[in-house]
Order: sequence, then C-alpha cells, then structure tokens
Amino acid sequence: MSEDLEYYKAKYKTLEDLPDIGPATVAKLKEIGFKTVESLGTAAVAELVAAGIGEAMAEKVIEAARKSMAITFVRGDELVEIRKNVRKLTTGCSSLDRLLNGGIETQSLTEFYGEFGSGKSQLCHQLCVTVQLGEAQGGLNGSVLYIDTEATFRPERLMQMAPRFGLKPEDALKGVVYAEAYTSNHQTVLLENADEVIKENNVRLIIVDSVMSHFRSEYLGREMLAPRQQQLNKHLHKLMRLSRAFNTAAVITNQVLASPDAFFSKAVSPTGGHILGHMSHSRIFLRKGRSNVRIAKLTASPSLPEGEVPMRITERGIESDEDF
Ligand code: GTP
Ligand code: MG
Repeated sequence: MSEDLEYYKAKYKTLEDLPDIGPATVAKLKEIGFKTVESLGTAAVAELVAAGIGEAMAEKVIEAARKSMAITFVRGDELVEIRKNVRKLTTGCSSLDRLLNGGIETQSLTEFYGEFGSGKSQLCHQLCVTVQLGEAQGGLNGSVLYIDTEATFRPERLMQMAPRFGLKPEDALKGVVYAEAYTSNHQTVLLENADEVIKENNVRLIIVDSVMSHFRSEYLGREMLAPRQQQLNKHLHKLMRLSRAFNTAAVITNQVLASPDAFFSKAVSPTGGHILGHMSHSRIFLRKGRSNVRIAKLTASPSLPEGEVPMRITERGIESDEDF
C-alpha cells in the first residue's frame, strides 16, 4: 500500500491506546460499532450519549480520536493536501472512466441508478475486480466490502470478468468480503459494524447493491416516509464516514421512479428523495440502448460537467469500443 493511503491511519492503533479511556467505555464503544479509532474519529457526540456514554467522556474520546487523525478545521491549502489522498478507481470501461474523469473517487459517494437490467449490478461486479488492481492499472490495491440486498451477487460472474484484467478467477474472489442484508435494519447494522472488517481486509471499496430496496418495501405509506428517511439518512452518513475515515470509494445502486409530473416524457428519477440526492456526490443514470448497449449519463457531480457515454455488457464484463 502506498504511503498516501496510510495517511488516514490513526496514531493510536486501538481504542485501548486512547488516553484516559477505561475498559467499560471501550466495551460500550465496540458494542455500538465503533471498534476502530478511525471510525470513532468521525462519530458524533450524540451517538455515543444515546448509547449510554457520558457527554464529557464522549467529547473527550472523539476529540482524542480526531486529533490522532488530524480531523479538525483545516486551511484551504491543507484541504488541497488532504484531497491529494483522494484516489480514483477505474471502472474497467474506458468510456465510463472518461465520463468520470478517470474513475470513481475515494472519500465520496457515487450512485448508479437506472431501471432493471440497466447494468447496475454488473458494474458492481466489475468494480470488485478493478479495485484489486495495482494503482498503475487504475485499481486501489485493496479488497471490496459488498453488501447485497437483492441476493444478485454471483461469484461465477466475477470469475468470468477477472481474466480481462489479468487476475486469476480464484484470486479475484479472495478480494471480496460479502454480506447479504435481509432487511433495512440488517443492512444498517452491517455497515455500523464494518469498521474492523474494513481495516483488517484493506477494503478500498464499499458497495451497497441496492441501497433502497429494503427501505422501499418495508416502509409503506405516507406516514412511514419520515421514519424511513431518518433511518436512510443515518445509514448513508455511516457510509460516508467510513469512506472518509478509511479513504475508500463508496458505490450505491438505486432504482428509478417514473416522475409524476412528466406525463409526455419518459422522465425518471432515482428513489430515496432529497436525502439520497444530497448524500450522493456523483450520480450516474444508466439506461438501456439497443441489445447489449447501455448509456451512462452523469447527472450530478461536484466538479464535472454533465455528459453521457455508451458502453456494452458482454461476457467479458462492461466495456466500450475503446477497450478492444
Ligand atoms: P436490477 O437489479 O434488476 O434493477 O437491474 P441491474 O441494473 O442491476 O441489472 P444487471 O446489472 O443485473 O444487468 C443485467 C443485464 O446484464 C442483463 O441485460 C443481462 O443480459 C446482462 N448480463 C448479465 N450477465 C451477463 C453475461 O454473463 N453476459 C452478457 N453478455 N450479459 C450479461
Ligand atoms: Mg441489480
């Protein structure tokens, strides 16, 4: 791993190493999912207080964790330094990489949305391979944490994609830490407890495919919308913070709804409302073209212009004409 990626490793190796922290507090923190100094550094005082840790103690331990990671106010020039740690992960498809100006960024959330069969899960599979490549090949030299809410992950498909990128099929599987989420609550809990797994496995990419399906099927009716959005908000914040703390890319997929106000056009919008819209830094809409052609359109980005590119789903994976 390069030195830059180490930047985010905290000075203290374990919670026990933090100054003035007792075993009872450590146990409590672990119980609520803060098992590493890195994740504690991005925690909120209220979260710890809600779990029964005194406010003064909560402030103290978060402060210590943050100090050891240098998460504090920074000047603009320092921010540039921190941004230097942002890496780009190749999608393995040249046209899509071009649309994204090199690939998917670490430390932020990237959302792929589109109707069934548009290629969201296929792309997730391919990213499981590319993240394992060396940095010279556009990879992040790490593994992937894959949270699957629809039970559509297929190891065989991953093995089929691996050779194009020079990976042995069996090796490609070893770089995937997989969990199926059975409910929205399970999905949330999995992420809340992921920090140690991320650290131990050198995870450089977190995938949630798909982020909304459980939330949509469980929270039915208007009166459930507010509690749903509250839970979703918590879930996405956790994802965001893990991605920052461990310098990983974070990819979510999402379904679409037909826009009620677009009677004459075929306009669709991603599900999840404003919460998801605010949290996703980059949003890419995938739509079907003729036969195996798919169009990827960048619809939101903090720095890039909108645009669209074609790509194709083949037995080798997702590729564009430039890849031959
Ligand atoms: P939902 O999860 O249902 O919303 O759809 P999705 O956007 O995740 O679609 P997915 O990524 O599963 O894309 C499915 C498309 O990929 C279908 O059109 C399949 O035909 C195609 N596909 C899947 N596996 C292969 C394969 O091995 N070879 C080829 N050529 N195409 C494949
Ligand atoms: Mg899918």
